[in-house]
Amino acid sequence: MALQAVVAADLVQFSESFSMVDLFDTEPGAPVDLMGAVIWPCWLDRAAQTAMLADLRDVARAAPFRQYETPGGHKMSVRMTAAGEVGWVTDRSGYRYASQHQSGGSWPEIPASVLDVWRAISGVDRDPDSCLVNYYGEGAKMSLHQDKDEADHHWPVVSISLGDPGLFRVGGMVRKDPTKSRWLMSGDVAVLSGDARLAYHGIDRIRFGEGDLLPDGGRINVTLRVAQ
Ligand code: SIN
Ligand code: FE2
Repeated sequence: MALQAVVAADLVQFSESFSMVDLFDTEPGAPVDLMGAVIWPCWLDRAAQTAMLADLRDVARAAPFRQYETPGGHKMSVRMTAAGEVGWVTDRSGYRYASQHQSGGSWPEIPASVLDVWRAISGVDRDPDSCLVNYYGEGAKMSLHQDKDEADHHWPVVSISLGDPGLFRVGGMVRKDPTKSRWLMSGDVAVLSGDARLAYHGIDRIRFGEGDLLPDGGRINVTLRVAQ
């Protein structure tokens, strides 16, 4: 076959296995708008993801992951820990930011690899004081909610995805508002700011075991906020 025909045949095969939307969306660096949330696909390359994961393992050694209970008495399916001056926690007495973790020490410092993402993408010149680390194992999800336990909602929320894909749903200021969804892939970074800062959002499900960053599968989400 002539070279041109081979290339053409390859192209047909290629476009049959990926829709044009996929092709466009996976282009590194092109921001995607999802109901006002801005998603930066593939912000972190594989080496940066691996380095951040090692830093997060250190965080989890100092402040182990826990499965919190909501004020309503439901056990969350996501396991959580935190870094920074304060960490988001919940139990029967409510959602709040705490300066100590449940094993009784202050939270570890926010790793430099994580701070670098905030400094590059947040558009503000103040550093976050809180870094929530969520681990989604098989079947874990997070229902629609607003991030509103922070003192001042004008600071953005920056969220980093690592590991298995997670289906991110974003709506409006009211729970019943229409929503749109998109799979967040390992290395993607999402920003909630401006009108979308208080948008309802959640993770419907993950595709457990699809990624290969975490050897035992699962998804990690790192959320940076100015809480105090
Ligand atoms: C969150 O809203 O706290 C988590 C979002 C995510 O896991 O991507
Ligand atoms: Fe959130």
